[in-house]
Amino acid sequence: MSEADKPQSAQPAFTAPRHVAIIMDGNGRWAAARGLPRAEGHRRGVEALRRTIRSAGEIGIKIITIFSFSAENWSRPASEIGELMGLLRRFIRNDLAELHKSNVRVRIIGERDGLDPDIARLLTEAEELTKDNSGLTLVVAFNYGARQEIARAARRIAEEVAAGRMATADIGLETIGRFLDAPDLPDPDLIIRTSGEQRLSNFLLWQSAYSELVFVPTNWPDFDRATLEAAISEYQQRERRFGGLVAKTGS
Ligand code: FPP
Repeated sequence: MSEADKPQSAQPAFTAPRHVAIIMDGNGRWAAARGLPRAEGHRRGVEALRRTIRSAGEIGIKIITIFSFSAENWSRPASEIGELMGLLRRFIRNDLAELHKSNVRVRIIGERDGLDPDIARLLTEAEELTKDNSGLTLVVAFNYGARQEIARAARRIAEEVAAGRMATADIGLETIGRFLDAPDLPDPDLIIRTSGEQRLSNFLLWQSAYSELVFVPTNWPDFDRATLEAAISEYQQRERRFGGLVAKTGS
């Protein structure tokens, strides 16, 4: 067991944010720096994901959203797409029972249409099995793009209007939120992106309106509890005003 995989029981010296979202970036660079195939970076990325889910629960985070496959990732070589799909299959087949035992509730956001039927089935199975769990909520953004999600919401609202169930004058900010993929979940308090890149890349564009963004240089396969805690400490230094004048606490 590597040092990073060992359980750590020390309690962090902060109140955890309720919802943390992560753009897991830098698998390819991690592998290239070691002369390894990109696939190895992705495989190590899954180990980092397991560590992070465990740490999130221990730290007291309630919801963790991970960007595991973007709507734009289809433009990668077929071999790499195959590798990422294989990792998702294996992650659900190997880890779902353990996640369920740990009281984790799995949610999926993103476009399901057009996915391989076995993948779509596994995603539904993960949601169904864990739907009554009350611990950490793990939101997997798979085949996800925020603009696509907003367009889906707009189409569904238009259908409501066309069917006479909603008036255009009643469409407000809250209406859009209600038609997004996970309407019941609060917006992320903190979004972390690894690998030093500083952009959102079509991730949670609606929900991130008031999120704090923390960019860390660490490539995703090296992400561990210490990196997560450092990002949360940085978040705690921020003054969240939500456009107003009165500072709110960071959690
Ligand atoms: C970014 O690294 C990462 C991804 C495109 C996918 C993230 C996937 C995992 C962590 C593993 C899969 C997990 C599940 C649950 C399927 P990159 O390839 O863009 O890295 P680079 O920018 O250095 O090339």
